[in-house]
Amino acid sequence: MTEPMSERAWLSLPAPAKLNRLLHIVGRRADGYHELQTLFQFLDHGDTLHLRRREDGEIHLTPPLPGVAAHDNLIVRAALALQDASGVQLGADIHLDKRLPLGGGLGGGSSNAATALLGLDRLWDLGLELDELADLGLALGADVPVFVHGHAAWGEGIGERLTPVELDTPWFVVVHPGVTVATPAVFGAPQLTRDTPPITMARALQGGAPGWRNDCEPTVRALYPAVADALNWLGEHAPAMLTGTGACAFARLTSAADAQRLVNDVPEHWQAFAARGLNRSPLHAALGR
Ligand code: C5P
Repeated sequence: MTEPMSERAWLSLPAPAKLNRLLHIVGRRADGYHELQTLFQFLDHGDTLHLRRREDGEIHLTPPLPGVAAHDNLIVRAALALQDASGVQLGADIHLDKRLPLGGGLGGGSSNAATALLGLDRLWDLGLELDELADLGLALGADVPVFVHGHAAWGEGIGERLTPVELDTPWFVVVHPGVTVATPAVFGAPQLTRDTPPITMARALQGGAPGWRNDCEPTVRALYPAVADALNWLGEHAPAMLTGTGACAFARLTSAADAQRLVNDVPEHWQAFAARGLNRSPLHAALGR
């Protein structure tokens, strides 16, 4: 006998990584947050969330993430925010297959939160609009809305004013040099460049690599020598950049074969993967929205 879909079935959904293919810091707000200009693109590589509805209202997340208390986990916080906003009495079991590094600049935590918001909206039959889910997500982190909207985007403000764009979709090699970057330490560093003149979206899209750059890179290189090593190593093989505030460096390649060859050459003490740039999130393809 097949089980009824409503109660017991697991819903498995991707939580893709993102890259910042350009990151300019154009100002600082009174609350300390930085005004950015960025190009977000997704990767066909990421975490997977498995979600199952509970009738008792509880949120159970497994397994625990090392160093992250359950109530601080963005998945749990997203679930609680959605319960609060909707008044729903249902809960969920959530199992996280974690592949993305913490503090890597790939948006893993933000992507997990967005997948929880869209997945639970579906599991609980809430029917919320993406704009409503993105508003809930923004309260959890500046990078959550782009994952909720699910389209490569030109981002402004603190990264929440999003305009969908179509970028080229090369292969990337992403290298994680084994350190965790503390985003607040980078944004709080006195030497950080905070006054890059704003450019228009059209100009950003014309720019293209290698004109694209990340204003956090000089500061992150200085604070985290291992990140500088990874950027230098990758840069010898292909145009390389930092994503977000790091720790990951990425390089663009023209074919899957070139990307895989480069991954095979990455020094063993670093983690690396090859992935294709995507303009649409695989989460939205999985949910048909
Ligand atoms: O929003 P999120 O939790 O990812 O941000 C982490 C920290 O990074 C913030 O507390 C803030 O110190 C810094 N930040 C910033 N400007 C941004 C995004 C983050 O200063 N646009």
